[in-house]
Amino acid sequence: MCGIVGAVAQRDITPILVEGLKRLEYRGYDSCGVALYINGQLKRTRSTQRVAELEALIKEDNFSGFTGIAHTRWATHGAPATHNAHPHFSGQDKGEPRIALVHNGIIENHDELRDELKALGYAFESQTDTEVIAHLINHLYNGDLFETLQQAVRRLEGAYALAVFCRDEPHRVVGARQGSPLVVGLGNNENFLASDALALAGTTDQIIYLEDGDVIDLQLSKVWIIDSHGKPVERRVHTVHAHTAAADLGPYRHYMQKEIFEQPRAVGDTLQDIDNITPDLFGDDAYKIFKDIDNILILACGTSFYAGLTAKYWIESIARIPVNVEIASEYRYRDSVPNPKSLVVTISQSGETADTLAALKHARSLGMEHTLTICNVQTSAMVRECKLNFITRAGVEIGVASTKAFTTQLVGLFLLTLALAQVKGRISEEKEADYLKQLRHLPTAISAVLALEPQIMAWADRFASKENALFLGRGMHYPIALEGALKLKEISYIHAEAYPAGELKHGPLALVTEHMPVVTIAPNDELIEKLKSNMQEVRARGGELYVFADNDSKIVNSEGMHVIRMPEHYGKLSPILHTIPLQLLSYHAACVRGTDVDKPRNLAKSVTVE
Ligand code: M6R
Repeated sequence: MCGIVGAVAQRDITPILVEGLKRLEYRGYDSCGVALYINGQLKRTRSTQRVAELEALIKEDNFSGFTGIAHTRWATHGAPATHNAHPHFSGQDKGEPRIALVHNGIIENHDELRDELKALGYAFESQTDTEVIAHLINHLYNGDLFETLQQAVRRLEGAYALAVFCRDEPHRVVGARQGSPLVVGLGNNENFLASDALALAGTTDQIIYLEDGDVIDLQLSKVWIIDSHGKPVERRVHTVHAHTAAADLGPYRHYMQKEIFEQPRAVGDTLQDIDNITPDLFGDDAYKIFKDIDNILILACGTSFYAGLTAKYWIESIARIPVNVEIASEYRYRDSVPNPKSLVVTISQSGETADTLAALKHARSLGMEHTLTICNVQTSAMVRECKLNFITRAGVEIGVASTKAFTTQLVGLFLLTLALAQVKGRISEEKEADYLKQLRHLPTAISAVLALEPQIMAWADRFASKENALFLGRGMHYPIALEGALKLKEISYIHAEAYPAGELKHGPLALVTEHMPVVTIAPNDELIEKLKSNMQEVRARGGELYVFADNDSKIVNSEGMHVIRMPEHYGKLSPILHTIPLQLLSYHAACVRGTDVDKPRNLAKSVTVE
């Protein structure tokens, strides 16, 4: 999704802006640009290529300056084209632009504002909602950019993070946040703005996380924040050790591959410091809240939604609490029946997903006050908005396809299951200790699955020529089949769908021919015999099965039946282990097809627009 970097300093800031954009590249974008104050004028360069190309253009134009803003754009309003790329300019005063602006988010009343500004004589050169804000600010400009921005945001409806500067006030960058993340980086006689602290890694580690409604004035030796009530406010300064190491690929070809192989470490870190199961793992008030609730509502999107679906199986069978799992973008607009005794659980890698945040706010507006998030980013809006939290320690995930974030979410959700079961008196101490032991063994068990990579690569070679695939699972492995199908379509662009295996005969079986690969998750659990019957239904129609089976499942290689044996059977935690080979299969199929694995087309890492 879009990214912002801005700076006001007494040195050339172009390398800082470019490096910041490079650090934000992983979020996905389709154009980029930079604007600087140079010798009394605003200058900009924009590109529909990668940031490296923009950097070359900057060098070619010999750009350097001490005040400026930069942006990576993920198109929403208007095609990915240079004229739609940010920064946008306004105010052709004496033939020269006066205002430069970058924006993340969506302005919902842009049509109305555009009509108004057109009537005032403004000409628009883009189809974006953003250009409207640039012209609005120029129209309201009274010689004080900070005051003007405070006035302008009162006219905006929707979500935004903004960074703006003005030709007439060259030592100042102003910004505003509503619904889209924005941070301030503090330096020594220089200050910075960015949509993510990661963009400023290596420049400053002193970070202020702005809150919704904040408007900010950034000067060389001054940072001034006004809150949503128009009152000056001091926000806490955090020392953030942004994971610069995350940007190193090491021996891997792609970040996705690196992140798949980091899972033993990520799971181990997530379990670190956990000596026993206690509700306190989720916050001081967790015991009281867990005691009070009588059901759970899980809200999430994409891969995080599938983590929620898996948790439903765990929580209902171990803690015996009813669970509903809802896609956040549906829930927020659905006329649902609220239950104040619900524990609302949001799951999010980024903690900034607009749909999940909106669903959480919607649940709260319906009177559901017990909120908990499983999140990978301690400083995110999701963590700030929820009463309770569990922070997964996956580390920065750069590949757009979620891998280590998913498996660590599952670990967090399993811990939640045990804590709930404990508070509700539904688990014995022995059983609890047994599960904890299994959790501790997970990093070793995952490493053993990762060693299957060469066998999976051989399968990926065959998959790469297919245009469709089916994924089957039963029970708590059905959400893992869904995740496997999402992974494959997202990075290899092979169309893939997942079904609970028993559902096949109710429709999807019509798709099965000798050209259809059917990936099957076949752990040796209580459903294995049922699953074997479903596999026979596929074989009888000529479908080719690719089966991940436990050693004792008695499923063997035969005509049309390819089997990879999982190193060990893992009981209730088996969904975590079965996720790994599906990640590897998608990754290697995508490599054979030559797609842009870490930045798949049309997708963004952190989806901060609705
Ligand atoms: O940051 P979040 O976990 O809230 O993101 C939710 C989805 O956008 C995300 O899981 C997406 O589906 C991934 N690209 C899947 O690999």
